[in-house]
Amino acid sequence: MQNGTLAAVDLGTSKVCTIIVNVSGGNIIEVMGWGVAESAGVEKGVIVDIEKAGDSVVESLEQAEKARGLRVQSVVMNTSGRHLSSFNNRATLAIHHRSHVVSKREVKKGYKASTDIDLPIDRGMLHAIPRGYHLDGLASTRNPVGLFAYKLEVESHIITAGLASVQNLVECLASIGVKVGHVVANYIASGAAMLQEGDEERVVAVVDIGAGTTDVAVYKDGRIWHSFVLTIGGDQVTRDMAAGLGISFEMAEKLKMEYGSTLDLESSKMEEVSSKVHQKYGISYEYMNYIIKARVEELLEMVHVKLADMAGEDTAALTGASVRLCGGGAHLKGLPETVREVMGIPAVVAVPKRLAGPYPSLDDISFATGIGLVLCELAEEKVMGARFLSQDGFLKRRRTRPRINLPRISIKLSRGMSRRTSRRH
Ligand SMILES: Nc1ncnc2c1ncn2[C@@H]1O[C@H](COP(=O)(O)OP(=O)(O)OP(=O)(O)O)[C@@H](O)[C@H]1O
Ligand SMILES: [Mg+2]
Repeated sequence: MQNGTLAAVDLGTSKVCTIIVNVSGGNIIEVMGWGVAESAGVEKGVIVDIEKAGDSVVESLEQAEKARGLRVQSVVMNTSGRHLSSFNNRATLAIHHRSHVVSKREVKKGYKASTDIDLPIDRGMLHAIPRGYHLDGLASTRNPVGLFAYKLEVESHIITAGLASVQNLVECLASIGVKVGHVVANYIASGAAMLQEGDEERVVAVVDIGAGTTDVAVYKDGRIWHSFVLTIGGDQVTRDMAAGLGISFEMAEKLKMEYGSTLDLESSKMEEVSSKVHQKYGISYEYMNYIIKARVEELLEMVHVKLADMAGEDTAALTGASVRLCGGGAHLKGLPETVREVMGIPAVVAVPKRLAGPYPSLDDISFATGIGLVLCELAEEKVMGARFLSQDGFLKRRRTRPRINLPRISIKLSRGMSRRTSRRH
């Protein structure tokens, strides 16, 4: 890990979060500033109005810059939405030489071959993350270098993205004078923030329930195994409540946060809360939670179907698996219990990895993506694999093999206040 400073922007459907960190002493990350603003112009994880989205980013950037009078010029950024897709791809390499000892060069060659994929004209490769090596179709290993083999198979997790959706991100930031250095799939970022020590031995599904999307990264033995996005999140729950209860979206959102739950209260408490909600808002507490639970169960069933599909014939794969919940939607009371009921898999709401610095409020689960973006950028070589963007920041379709060793992003910081108007050009 090198010393330096970097900025991450998590552009979500409901909020934009900017985190600026300083890396010193080899591996100490100190937060130098952070900002959160309400997001506009983003629907189900994708930009639908560049100008509005740009204004939201400016607001969060300027909050983050203010504390130390910094000015961010380049950022690492997330992308989510229906345009993302992923699969695992294997390539086989014969070990020809007489010693049959696998070298670093061969591992690299095998990795490159595993990323050599033809994509439609409107798609690009966002990540190609090596996830496993197999020797002679028998042994699997994390590090094949130095082992004897006649055949090396390299498996990579490939994540592709719609070029237009990513280009809109880049253009949006360009319109406020900020360069997008790297783009990271939302679930990869959240996964990086939520993985814990000991996860090398088990299957963990990190489920980030946001406002517009639910982003899932599944890890097996500490390596990414599968990933997917559902374009349903907390907003859908609120919309259902608004429609079912005949109230505004804003009122439904407030009620959900204060009283929403997928759990039944004890009967004595239930009466008390129920009459309080009825007196205050004129609605039925029981019916409200019935609506919430129905939508949440449907969402979790969709996640479960995807997990079961992913495991395929390996039916034992999900035995001992666990679900780790994050994203603002995971604040909903009773969610871990409902996950267990619907999926039969234990679930916890866990705080993201902590970044050093006087910002305890970043411990909230809705900042998992922002924190993960920082961690991905720092662990670039290990986590990211292929780059989507060329060095000059413009998207280029990779017709052949993706380049893998582009330089790290840099942000130049200059003293002095930034002004919103000066962001636009
Ligand atoms: N206490 C709470 N109870 C229930 N839901 C909550 C609570 N707090 C926040 N939420 C929900 O969390 C969602 C916002 O989460 P988050 O900030 O992670 O979304 P986002 O990153 O902006 O969106 P996305 O990742 O989907 O693009 C909203 O739907 C909000 O209603
Ligand atoms: Mg989010």
